[in-house]
Amino acid sequence: MNYNQKINIFTNPDELSQNLAVEFVDFIRNNKNDIINILLAGGSTPKIFYSYLALDKFKDKIEWGKVHFYWGDERCVSPDHSDSNYLMVKKSLLDKIDIPKENIHRIYGENSPEKEISRYSNELLNNLTIKENIPIFDWVFLGLGNDGHTASLFPNSKNLNNINDLCVVEIQPESGQRRISLSLPILKNAQKITFLVTGRGKAEIIKKLLIDREITNQYPASLLFSKNKNIEWCLDVDSAKYL
Ligand code: 6PG
Repeated sequence: MNYNQKINIFTNPDELSQNLAVEFVDFIRNNKNDIINILLAGGSTPKIFYSYLALDKFKDKIEWGKVHFYWGDERCVSPDHSDSNYLMVKKSLLDKIDIPKENIHRIYGENSPEKEISRYSNELLNNLTIKENIPIFDWVFLGLGNDGHTASLFPNSKNLNNINDLCVVEIQPESGQRRISLSLPILKNAQKITFLVTGRGKAEIIKKLLIDREITNQYPASLLFSKNKNIEWCLDVDSAKYL
């Protein structure tokens, strides 16, 4: 099956992040909506991209009042914990830009996960445009684990077949850490999806997804592929080694 995959390969994470920051500036400038809903990726890869957005040459060109940030997943920790995806974005971007605090829609990792998935689902339903009962993000940024997970949807999770909930509770297989993750239906519903994947350690999973095209619950990221969804891959030469 031919999926719409736009693959951009950059020399290194710096060049990738610089180019993506330029794309982000243009995206916000060209979007005439009063509110633009962006879903942020967690983990370590996107840190450098967020730091580029915080540079004067990019941040001063972005009308932050229009931009609303949400998170694709969060670790079940407090917002000042070193594992927090919110804290990672706060340090690399939010503390350096003039964005209204009401535009920051973090997942409350400190809450009971069972309560938080309900609260956050309502926050999504109350703030985003809805299509076929599912909120639509203007742009979703995602990372990729070397096991094929994305957001905090892990291999062979029962949540991969969950078509009813917008947010789910997951458990990181190695650490046992509880996570809150957006589910596949809401990720798939986005207008635009971009994966940021760098480093030699991701080369094998990139090969499985983009060369072997293994679409399976073993690789949750692969379940986002569809004929009518254009997915953009921002890779560096190390993660794109086999392409
Ligand atoms: C998280 C992310 C997760 C991440 C991948 C890749 O909370 O960890 O949402 O999906 O994107 O695990 O992580 P790295 O960017 O650190 O390799």
